[in-house]
Amino acid sequence: MFGDVYADRRVFVTGHTGFKGSWLTLWLLDLGADVTGYALAPPTEPSLFEAAGIGREEARRARGAGRCTDLRADVREPRALAQALKMAAPEIVFHLAAQPLVRRSYAEPHLTYETNVMGTVNLLEGVRALAASGRGPRAVVNVTSDKCYENLETGHAYVEGDPLGGFDPYSSSKGCSELVTAAYRRSFFSAPGLPRVATARAGNVIGGGDWGEDRILPDCARALGAGVPVAVRSPGAVRPWQHVLESLSGYLCLGAKLWRGADEARDEAGAFDGA
Ligand SMILES: NC(=O)c1ccc[n+]([C@@H]2O[C@H](COP(=O)([O-])OP(=O)(O)OC[C@H]3O[C@@H](n4cnc5c(N)ncnc54)[C@H](O)[C@@H]3O)[C@@H](O)[C@H]2O)c1
Repeated sequence: MFGDVYADRRVFVTGHTGFKGSWLTLWLLDLGADVTGYALAPPTEPSLFEAAGIGREEARRARGAGRCTDLRADVREPRALAQALKMAAPEIVFHLAAQPLVRRSYAEPHLTYETNVMGTVNLLEGVRALAASGRGPRAVVNVTSDKCYENLETGHAYVEGDPLGGFDPYSSSKGCSELVTAAYRRSFFSAPGLPRVATARAGNVIGGGDWGEDRILPDCARALGAGVPVAVRSPGAVRPWQHVLESLSGYLCLGAKLWRGADEARDEAGAFDGA
């Protein structure tokens, strides 16, 4: 699907211990990439990261997959992140690390903005420093959300040109991450030869390996397992569900296109809605 873009490629993935990040890392390893993951510990117990043995060298070797360096650190720490990027010298970066839960964002708005907004700034600063030293990645994909738009509840399917906003702290933090990325793209990465930076706005992802709290299918599975009624928080909501591999194929496709794109086509780097 992606030609040979990822084979033997140095790829930096933030949030590699999470639901989507674990699937992305597994896929990249199968494509033969040399992955450096940067994240906190897996956010759930159990987790796909542990179940699939992503951090275990022998499990990877048994599957004949590429290499994975598992770094446990915080995106809110600019120096640690810059140092990890310098050490990994990635050719392609996928940024997934985030506080991804709407309900938690009401309880912990400061943590949510610090992680999702300043985490993006810290990542792009690290990329900028690498680029200044002539060792910058060629492609950067920042994973945001379809919740980044000003949600007017009209039933209209949002497209890339719609106004950003976000009702709750989580959604607005993803809108902010979009704005930060656009500003960095225009201010620091517009010249030929510099990293091509894009955002991807997929949402409502389902699939195996998700044990997250406040997610509808894991909630259903937990309720069925416990023999209790399923609690649906917004029974009137209509959501365009997609399988996790759908959104990840979009991220990988975007990364490959950014990697391959001629410098003349850099205007194409921008925001991509995958909902
Ligand atoms: N799952 C969905 O339906 C969905 C929908 C839209 C957008 N997203 C976005 O996709 C990305 C991945 O989501 P997920 O569902 O895999 O979430 P997850 O909670 O399973 O994983 C989050 C990852 O981020 C890491 N992380 C959190 N805070 C960190 C910090 N301060 N420093 C370093 N790492 C940190 C965690 O350790 C974990 O690896 C997020 O950016 C999320 O906002 C997810």
